[in-house]
Amino acid sequence: MISDVGILGLGKAVPNRILTNADLEAMVDTSDEWITTRTGIKQRYIADPEIAASDLGYEAALQALAAAGVKADELDLIIAATTTPDMPFPATACIIQDRLKAKGAAAFDLAAACSGFIYGLEVGRTMVKAGYQRVLVIGVDVISRLIDYSDRSTCVLFGDGAGAAVLGPVETGYGIIASEIGADGSGAGLLHVPAGGSRMPAQLETIENKSHYVKMSGSEVFKFAVRVICDSSNRVLEKAGTACSEVSWFVPHQANVRIIKAAADRLNIDRERIYVNVDRYGNTSAASIPIALTELDEAGQLKSGDLVLLVGFGAGLTWGSALVRWGGMIL
Ligand code: ACO
Repeated sequence: MISDVGILGLGKAVPNRILTNADLEAMVDTSDEWITTRTGIKQRYIADPEIAASDLGYEAALQALAAAGVKADELDLIIAATTTPDMPFPATACIIQDRLKAKGAAAFDLAAACSGFIYGLEVGRTMVKAGYQRVLVIGVDVISRLIDYSDRSTCVLFGDGAGAAVLGPVETGYGIIASEIGADGSGAGLLHVPAGGSRMPAQLETIENKSHYVKMSGSEVFKFAVRVICDSSNRVLEKAGTACSEVSWFVPHQANVRIIKAAADRLNIDRERIYVNVDRYGNTSAASIPIALTELDEAGQLKSGDLVLLVGFGAGLTWGSALVRWGGMIL
């Protein structure tokens, strides 16, 4: 008999190199003061040229497996949520599967930008419900590869990283007790990378025009983010029959501290229950939520029975939320 689906172990990985606001001041016309007050970001990690998504994803996966006490060959499925795969194919999940020696696992990538980890959790949850016993969900992005470091409106925002979670069945009432994912493709043009796909393959012209870099309508994305964080959180809380006041930890996608505060104010969540680490990592896209969750776990802040609300949003436009009751017996 299958019960609920829980997070059995978590892991994270970031590259070694730190890019500070002071470093950016030397690269573009910006200031630590502007970046700090408009975004809350002080530094971010940037991968050296030889590091790809599978390298960071693999490190995070190893940690998550160790934390869960699960061997790689016990995995039934690996989902890598990424929009910066090592290459168009094979899937980054397959490259990680090989490095982990997870011979029995199916593996595929999932592209939902910054909502990728929540999308991965939702797909992983339904796969466990369908009978897959151990599912590894990785959120990884080397998003610096898509950033124009002469464009001050985007280059200050992002950082590289990976986070991972092992999912499996847990006793009823624990694990992911309510969730949703959603999309509004009419907003695709608000946050996109025009070139590098079948619409506009790489050519000299696309490189000259900088079409391989992130283009973003910042203030539109800001408004969308605050709205969907609130709406999606409320829908998931309602599904679970609980209230925001019962949530122990609110772990939103880490894009901008002002987005997080505006949404938290509307949801009436006190600052002590909001997890924020965007100051140290910047926006790590699909990795941001699992990195935050891993930090909370490592700090011993997640207690059995705690309600943890995860909310993501990103390009697509996409969003998703998952309400997790921490702990519970692993089945
Ligand atoms: N340093 C100094 N000045 C800057 C910088 C910078 N790094 N960037 C922009 N400015 C300037 C602008 O040129 C503008 O100048 P102007 O008034 O002379 O034209 C001024 O600052 C204000 O710019 P705004 O865009 O209005 O600033 P805003 O307060 O909206 O902040 C920001 C911009 C931080 C991008 C904000 O809109 C934001 O965070 N949006 C959401 C972005 C986001 O979360 N994206 C990721 C989504 S997830 C995913 O899937 C990837």
